[in-house]
Amino acid sequence: MLAYGNVLDAIGKTPMLELKRLDAGPCRLFVKLEFVNPGGSIKDRIGLAMITAAEREGKIRPGGMLIEATAGNTGLALALVAGQKGYRLTVVMPDKISREKIFHLRAMGAEVVITRSDVVKGHPEYYQDVAERMARETENAFFVNQFANESNPRAHEETTGPEIWEQMAGKVDAFIASVGTGGTLSGVGRYLRSRNPALEIVLADPEGSVLAHYVETGELGALGSWLVEGIGEDFVPPVCDLSIVSEAVTVTDGESFAAARELLKVEGVLGGSSSGTNLSAALRYCRAQSTPKRVVTLLPDSGNKYLSKMYNDYWMIEEGFIEREHHGDLRDLIARPHAENAAVVVAPEDDLLIAYGRMKLYDISQLPVMADEKVLGIIDESDILLAVYGHEDHFKDEVAAYMTTELKIVSPDASIKSLVPMLDQGFVPIVMAGENFFGVITRIDLLNYLRRRLEGRR
Ligand SMILES: Cc1ncc(COP(=O)(O)O)c(C=O)c1O
Repeated sequence: MLAYGNVLDAIGKTPMLELKRLDAGPCRLFVKLEFVNPGGSIKDRIGLAMITAAEREGKIRPGGMLIEATAGNTGLALALVAGQKGYRLTVVMPDKISREKIFHLRAMGAEVVITRSDVVKGHPEYYQDVAERMARETENAFFVNQFANESNPRAHEETTGPEIWEQMAGKVDAFIASVGTGGTLSGVGRYLRSRNPALEIVLADPEGSVLAHYVETGELGALGSWLVEGIGEDFVPPVCDLSIVSEAVTVTDGESFAAARELLKVEGVLGGSSSGTNLSAALRYCRAQSTPKRVVTLLPDSGNKYLSKMYNDYWMIEEGFIEREHHGDLRDLIARPHAENAAVVVAPEDDLLIAYGRMKLYDISQLPVMADEKVLGIIDESDILLAVYGHEDHFKDEVAAYMTTELKIVSPDASIKSLVPMLDQGFVPIVMAGENFFGVITRIDLLNYLRRRLEGRR
């Protein structure tokens, strides 16, 4: 293969991989690695196609402005293409989007406008309405609108579908995909069906989305919520052709995350959360077959974007997807138990710079100071601040000189209520039984615990 002359030439032509270690019943399961695209997701294909079509149709002119409402990958794809072609890009996002995506977009030169996430379509501050209005009111601006832009499914009909057909040597019995806009499912589905009229097309839908119910009954069911990103809908997008779907499979968040983590462990492939949804549905489909079939699904983006979420055990425990041993006492509130080597601590002879570095890295405000399995003290942000203010050289001093040795020790069977005044006064309760240190309970640990109780979890 010769070197590409431009990053946009590297879009598409992604590898296909057969998963031979996971149990696919009588079937052979293949996944297309869309995270290999230069912008990190399948959306590069439509980013390029929608901008090229708009240029061709005279909807954008040199130096023009593109505006899109997106929660992530499409924004990154548009930023990639706009950057190379010399267009300006404004992305309108709801305020619940992760900081990583905002940093990534800004680093690519996009302007990011944050708007409310607690309002629905029709409200003037709903992100899609904001984007549409901005495009109307800005000269030489084009509202990309992936949900209604026919270049979106067409990109998949012209590139993703034919690539799959070729990589599978013309033998595909079933195709499984989830729906964000429906561009992938409709475009790839249409192309593969045109080559194999008997092809089964399976919708993988997160629990809470209305689409699986719509496929089964023709009616939009009750809307719920889900954590998998980029897929699932509260409406049927204009570009989404559900009439081609043979069957729908509903996948819970827990199943999606478990499938993605299993994929990494067993096959060494780091997929994103919607990859987990696709894989979970595909495996379920494969195992239910009584005859051998060649089955294809996609991994739309990379797990790199979700390392602090579904690949982070603490987050998984927090959200209730991994069950931890239940003690029925204060140990259940400790986010980072010492017994799991999870407590972040410092040694008394470490310097303040090390303590500060650990606080920043783990986003915590205080650290137990430990030596020989004993808690000698606690050092927190204000201890460090008071030590170094006006004496920056004190960053090199030992933690022992500035730690607080007045410790609030609580036994595991103490009440939750007894923690509140300690936390209120700025102390950090240390859970110990005799010499045995279990961990500390911070304000956020208690808040997390109370929220879990609100949701009926422990
Ligand atoms: C991570 C991820 N997976 C899957 C999809 C679904 O793709 P499509 O919009 O083609 O339905 C999207 C996009 O919305 C996405 O961001």
